[in-house]
Amino acid sequence: TANLAFGVLLGVVAASLLFAFFDSSSDSGGASVHVLKVAHNQPTTHPVHLGIQHMAERVAALSGGRMRLDVFPNGQLGSETQTMEQLQAGTLDIAKGSSAPISNFISVCKVFSLPYLFRDEDHFWAVLNGEVGAGILESLATNDAGRPSGLRGLTYYDAGSRSFYAKKAIHSPADLAGMKIRVQNDPVAMDMVEAMGAAPTPVAWGELYTALQQGVVDGAENNSPSFVSSRHFEVCKQFSLDHHARVPDVLLMSSLTWNRLSEQEQAWLSQAAAESSTFQRAAWAAGVAEAVGIMKEEGVQVVEVNADSFIEATQSVRDKYATGPLRELVVKIGEVE
Ligand code: GCU
Repeated sequence: TANLAFGVLLGVVAASLLFAFFDSSSDSGGASVHVLKVAHNQPTTHPVHLGIQHMAERVAALSGGRMRLDVFPNGQLGSETQTMEQLQAGTLDIAKGSSAPISNFISVCKVFSLPYLFRDEDHFWAVLNGEVGAGILESLATNDAGRPSGLRGLTYYDAGSRSFYAKKAIHSPADLAGMKIRVQNDPVAMDMVEAMGAAPTPVAWGELYTALQQGVVDGAENNSPSFVSSRHFEVCKQFSLDHHARVPDVLLMSSLTWNRLSEQEQAWLSQAAAESSTFQRAAWAAGVAEAVGIMKEEGVQVVEVNADSFIEATQSVRDKYATGPLRELVVKIGEVE
């Protein structure tokens, strides 16, 4: 009987280990908690982190503690491209990515990288929150070959507008001539920077501070909250407001994870993601205001720019991508009021 008892015990231990493994659950006070891993590449002061944190709080509340998000900030789990690959492999559950690197997986996202596509912030949000935005989010589930991509779009986050920063002021494309400008892992951004007369250099966001400091690149482009929270202002003191693109952030989920969730769990996550988007937009507005203050304190020169020469210089880029499947989309976006 001792042997039998030992056997039963062993069986119980093995079964619970197996259960824990397949359910990726952890045991907290007896109740099983479904834990999902979330990655992003910004510091914990950034509005993206605040948005994801809000989502984690909402998931915990909606599920009565049965679901938990563990958040890994600062690019701890890798670059955005690497975390997309982890989602596809199912080794990561949720990640925030700029639509720019996502466009290497799902090319419809290239549309968001086009320079001067949106008239202003209102136009941008009317597109994202309307039919076009919903359609693009849904199409993330299918890759360019028409097969399941392994990804699922949850919601959009605000990432403002992107502008150039360097040690010198950029008033027009002429000022960019001969400069090495860091871009994301994004063919459209490469074409854009080239059309403006500079040499585009892809560098992962987490490596950019050092690249700027060591002169691997002469400048970069981003929104003001990211410029400030990355402390790139310590190297680059001139921020030129040319607002060349509005590239949204997207919250993505592994479809392997999604398909393993119960309908109830999927509903909690969808609701929490939608609520976190609203929350993040407000955090974004506060983040921009805060960034303006910090830039002032830190002696950053904010350069007002007339965008006309930038718009003109990048016409070839809009023409190049507004062909084939993106053509209709560009027209549709233009028509959104
Ligand atoms: C933005 C965006 C990030 C991205 C970064 C970059 O800040 O929100 O997701 O990584 O730009 O330029 O790499």
